[in-house]
Amino acid sequence: MTRIIQISDPHIVPYGQMAYGQVDTAEALSNCVETINRCLPEIGPIDMVFVSGDLTDFGTVEEYERFRALMEPLNLAYRVIPGNHDNIEVMRECFADQPWMPTVGPINWDAHFDDLVVIGLDSSVAEAAHGHLSDETLSFLSTTLEANGGKPTIVMTHHPPILTGIDKMDIQNLRYSKEFKAILSSYTGELRLTCGHVHRNIVAPFGDVICQIAPGVSHAVTMDLREAAPNCLTKEPGGFMLHEIRGVITSHYVPVGDYPGPYLFYPDT
Ligand SMILES: [Fe+2]
Ligand SMILES: [Fe+2]
Repeated sequence: MTRIIQISDPHIVPYGQMAYGQVDTAEALSNCVETINRCLPEIGPIDMVFVSGDLTDFGTVEEYERFRALMEPLNLAYRVIPGNHDNIEVMRECFADQPWMPTVGPINWDAHFDDLVVIGLDSSVAEAAHGHLSDETLSFLSTTLEANGGKPTIVMTHHPPILTGIDKMDIQNLRYSKEFKAILSSYTGELRLTCGHVHRNIVAPFGDVICQIAPGVSHAVTMDLREAAPNCLTKEPGGFMLHEIRGVITSHYVPVGDYPGPYLFYPDT
């Protein structure tokens, strides 16, 4: 049984800074790594960790180096895709030692396990907050899915193609996604679309597949469903997703942190 972890939107900033003047995102990522390492005996073994974009806030070399340093204590291999806060050329350079990092073009890759394939897609658009999948990326997706032969598959993009009701995020979601929907919906096997970007745990259908948006490891986008609600963050607890194959793809939400328990429900029986 393959098990993977998805973490999202760490938004690492330069040393000595707080994201948006409010959030110590480095501490949040460090807490997430610590939580994963501590929980491994109960939730593992984990085959790989995937980071669904916005690794950094400004896409600088210093931030990527800091991200890698914060991930160093993680006792698991990991791969990343870019988000709108990333710079794909700087990111490519900073992960040039990783065999899965493409040397040119969009940062797309596929990771193969016994009973699962994970396809990472680059939805970033230079100098823009919204997402878009290029023809090259859609072609990579089609070719990879065809080769999968119905094997359970997770497709990962930073930007979700669904509407969440949070106005300020919906205007910067994955645009022009009709062909993307058709490609995913035509897959003959179990398929899940997983995203980041909204920093909240949200599930909705996208064509014939389930779209799962992962929470951020740090701050959340404020839960405000009013029309034209202001663009705000809230310092809610971070979290991550654990996806596992149980014939189908089952997804668990795990909060970052160390909480009291476990306690036996009925210790005297
Ligand atoms: Fe983000
Ligand atoms: Fe984002």
